[in-house]
Amino acid sequence: MIEIKHLSKSFGNLEVLKDVSLTIKKGEVVTIIGSSGSGKSTLLRCINLLEQPTGGAILFEGKDIVNSKIKIEDIRKNACMVFQHFNL
Ligand SMILES: Nc1ncnc2c1ncn2[C@@H]1O[C@H](COP(=O)(O)OP(=O)(O)OP(=O)(O)O)[C@@H](O)[C@H]1O
Ligand SMILES: [Mg+2]
Repeated sequence: MIEIKHLSKSFGNLEVLKDVSLTIKKGEVVTIIGSSGSGKSTLLRCINLLEQPTGGAILFEGKDIVNSKIKIEDIRKNACMVFQHFNL
């Protein structure tokens, strides 16, 4: 289960994610919809710590991966993403 609590992410003055909270249960399929630039990829990048969130928490099976010292490799074994541009 992934639990996102009050997540925020800014790039300088640009506040991309603001107080985002959601819970994704095991086996659940979730689609994130939003206009271009609304922060969908940024949210996914935060979930496997390709971006360091500015605030909030991301709990992966109960462990906060943002605010604790975990081996990110262990998270990434189960948190995969397909990059939007193949050449990245
Ligand atoms: N590393 C970065 N540095 C500065 N700004 C960034 C960075 N990554 C994303 N942004 C900005 O954050 C905002 C959200 O970008 P993001 O890529 O998350 O949007 P998106 O919803 O995935 O858009 P799209 O539908 O086009 O894929 C945009 O304004 C983008 O320019
Ligand atoms: Mg995107």
